[in-house]
Amino acid sequence: MEPVILKTFQKGKTKEYFAMPEGELHTDLGVITLDELKSKNFGDTISSHLGIEFIIQKPRAPDFFTHAKRSGAPMMPKDIGVIISNTGLCSSDFVLDAGTGSGILAIYLGMIAKKVVSYEIKEEFLEIARQNIALAGLTNIELRRGDIVEEIQKLDEKFDVITLDTIAAAQVVPYVPGILYPGGFLAAYSPFFEHAKDIREAIGKTNPTDVRTLENIERGISFTERGTRPATARVGHTGFITIVRY
Ligand SMILES: C[S@@+](CC[C@H](N)C(=O)[O-])C[C@H]1O[C@@H](n2cnc3c(N)ncnc32)[C@H](O)[C@@H]1O
Repeated sequence: MEPVILKTFQKGKTKEYFAMPEGELHTDLGVITLDELKSKNFGDTISSHLGIEFIIQKPRAPDFFTHAKRSGAPMMPKDIGVIISNTGLCSSDFVLDAGTGSGILAIYLGMIAKKVVSYEIKEEFLEIARQNIALAGLTNIELRRGDIVEEIQKLDEKFDVITLDTIAAAQVVPYVPGILYPGGFLAAYSPFFEHAKDIREAIGKTNPTDVRTLENIERGISFTERGTRPATARVGHTGFITIVRY
């Protein structure tokens, strides 16, 4: 059973719901009989008992960032975009990811790459990620329970791209060159300067061909009758991304 996005426009604002096609959804815009979705296609509309129409959309990766169940803080799409663009992630790639967390980064990676292996130390987080990945309909993500610092030392597989979004990243770095294909990339995410500095120090000992650390600042633009300008409310700091090639 696949989830759907139900979207409506009310008083100039978009309102949306993430739902499975069964039972009823009670909203402040009326009750939607979700069983009716079985006879509908994406792009069709469904109405609540109050006559409010909702467009039916197929969820894509950003919808899982917005609606999926969370364990810890998922990586934001703006930062995931930096990783995808700077590593050149593509459909033939084998990816190693840690920690899985809510599985949001893994879902984005899995929607592009051939295969993603993702390690998470906490079983309860792994279970949430497992549910999110199943809802995304992805079968190319293999979740493994374990401490990535220990597990990476036992791996005999090779990867094109490795993504690290864990406090343990600096301890993992020494083992990265041994399991990356030549020319492969590591992308390590760190919320703090100190954490990024530890990662850079560890990378400095591994003979990379390229390394840089950056922060991606996103600024939405607000369009109103009074004028057009950068939105006054915005996402503050999220993290630093270190991109390394071997
Ligand atoms: C910030 S979250 C990752 C979020 C994830 N990238 C996403 O987009 O949903 C960091 C995760 O790393 C896990 N973790 C911490 N240390 C770890 C380790 N040594 N090995 C594997 N996972 C670890 C934590 O339990 C947590 O779930």
